[in-house]
Amino acid sequence: MRAKVLLYACVFSTIGLICGATDIFLQLKLSQEQSKEVKEQQKLLEHPNWLAPFVPTPLKVVEAILKLANLRENDLLYDLGSGDGRILLMAAQKFHARAVGIEFDKSLCQKAALAIQQLRLEKRVRLIQGDIFNQDLSPATVVTAYLLPKSLEKIAPMLEGQLSKRTRVVTVDGQIQGWTWVRQKQVKDKARAAPYHLYLYQVGFFR
Ligand SMILES: C[S@@+](CC[C@H](N)C(=O)[O-])C[C@H]1O[C@@H](n2cnc3c(N)ncnc32)[C@H](O)[C@@H]1O
Repeated sequence: MRAKVLLYACVFSTIGLICGATDIFLQLKLSQEQSKEVKEQQKLLEHPNWLAPFVPTPLKVVEAILKLANLRENDLLYDLGSGDGRILLMAAQKFHARAVGIEFDKSLCQKAALAIQQLRLEKRVRLIQGDIFNQDLSPATVVTAYLLPKSLEKIAPMLEGQLSKRTRVVTVDGQIQGWTWVRQKQVKDKARAAPYHLYLYQVGFFR
């Protein structure tokens, strides 16, 4: 009997040790990955074309953005600074549109690529790992941009020069100076106290 008790005690403590070690290993791995991501974001902060930190838009707000843009199946949406790809994924999955994401950050692109693959959206969603300023945006029929307000000012000449008439542009939490929005919406979400401000512009109807 005593031997049995001893044996059980040994087995359980070994399992406990293994679980503990696995936990520590997982935690270490996660914190290593997180610090890699933080380092990459810090490197990007120093880039002269850096336009905003990665702040994901809550899904409720993503849906409001796409509805405000009146996104349809035949649209081609470009998300400028696509982060983890959430706008692209919803545009393709829920609205059946095609979508292109442009994102500086390599690890965010990898996250988005994995989600695209898992959801089998490769035919509708394309990712470009690169700088917004080096892209041709002219094929877009809808553009979304959640960037710093001063960054919206920087990309405005590019949008004016490249986008064709009637392309819809939705900005989050910032207006484009010199442009006049055609519709605006405020969306509340539990993610933060202040509501999200969305602005819809239509190229060719700025002033
Ligand atoms: C506020 S986040 C928005 C992410 C995503 N669009 C969303 O709504 O959830 C802005 C993103 O823009 C990216 N970014 C900043 N400057 C950029 C640039 N010049 N070219 C490409 N991406 C850029 C950042 O890495 C970040 O992921």
